[in-house]
Amino acid sequence: MTTHQHQAIAHYRHPLFAVLATFVLAGLPGLANAGGHTAAPKAKEPIILDPEARSSITGTVLVSGANRGIGLRLARNYVERGWTVIATVRKPDKADELNALARANSKVSVEQMDLLDHGSIDALAAKYKDVPIDVLLNNAAMLGDPAGQDLGSFDYELMERVIEVNTIGTMKMAEAFLDNVAASEQKKLVAVTSQQASIGSLRDPLIPFYKMSKTALNMGMRSISRRLKRKKVTVVLISPGAVDTDMMNSALDYAGVKGGFLITPEESAEAVINIIDQYTLDMTGAFMSHRGEEIPW
Ligand SMILES: NC(=O)c1ccc[n+]([C@@H]2O[C@H](COP(=O)([O-])OP(=O)(O)OC[C@H]3O[C@@H](n4cnc5c(N)ncnc54)[C@H](OP(=O)(O)O)[C@@H]3O)[C@@H](O)[C@H]2O)c1
Repeated sequence: MTTHQHQAIAHYRHPLFAVLATFVLAGLPGLANAGGHTAAPKAKEPIILDPEARSSITGTVLVSGANRGIGLRLARNYVERGWTVIATVRKPDKADELNALARANSKVSVEQMDLLDHGSIDALAAKYKDVPIDVLLNNAAMLGDPAGQDLGSFDYELMERVIEVNTIGTMKMAEAFLDNVAASEQKKLVAVTSQQASIGSLRDPLIPFYKMSKTALNMGMRSISRRLKRKKVTVVLISPGAVDTDMMNSALDYAGVKGGFLITPEESAEAVINIIDQYTLDMTGAFMSHRGEEIPW
């Protein structure tokens, strides 16, 4: 802060004014630099994590949408690492592969949860009350029919549903399980987001509802990270890469693109878990790719 600014603050005797003025001036780079005495703010060091570096950490993880796609492989990978896994699905009686995993491993529990039904989220949170959850891994999401997301034929009910599931449902999960995360050792609240949420690297005009839902989720999570830091809860935003799943294939089919560049759900799950393990409280709210690099907002 410049001498002028200090003098201006000293001019007013009320201590509350001084605190407020210090706060406001410090937050206004234009004003702070007006006298030409203040150095330009330092560029932030980029965060770089290693997607291949496995740790031996274990704990309890809740993975949503664990019956197929990336979620199923996240659940499997965590089990192989020795974690206790609470795997949520919309329809437990149809989750054949996950049920087989749970039968083979007593550390896996399969639970019902639908992001559209907040009652199901509250019921699950009540069932696990007082159980510490080290990593709340919000993986479940929907893409929505890409045809209903084309300008000129917007399906507004679909728009609401995609946001209801991906943004609101995920924020509800964060709120419902916050005490479980805060009571754990690792204290990580994770949202699987998407490169598609990045306004800064937008390329195509397709699936705007899905993109909107994930951009809003990023802001919601980053915003609450500012409050949760005090509780030592780390908020992790991670994009899992372009992965060979039903969701990605439905988007590519609509765009008429062949998916030769996709990674497998197993590769994605391995990288996502390694990055979550390395993600520390001082990074809270950073938007990371499965490659361990920051993604522009
Ligand atoms: N695949 C990619 O390339 C890619 C890229 C960027 C981000 N992502 C993100 O990665 C995550 C996993 O995607 P994925 O590719 O594995 O998708 P997926 O194969 O389509 O699986 C989606 C999962 O979410 C569940 N789900 C959908 N609606 C739900 C609801 N209302 N309540 C609870 N669960 C619900 C599905 O359950 P049902 O089986 O019951 O429908 C399924 O388990 C998502 O957050 C996605 O946005 C994926």
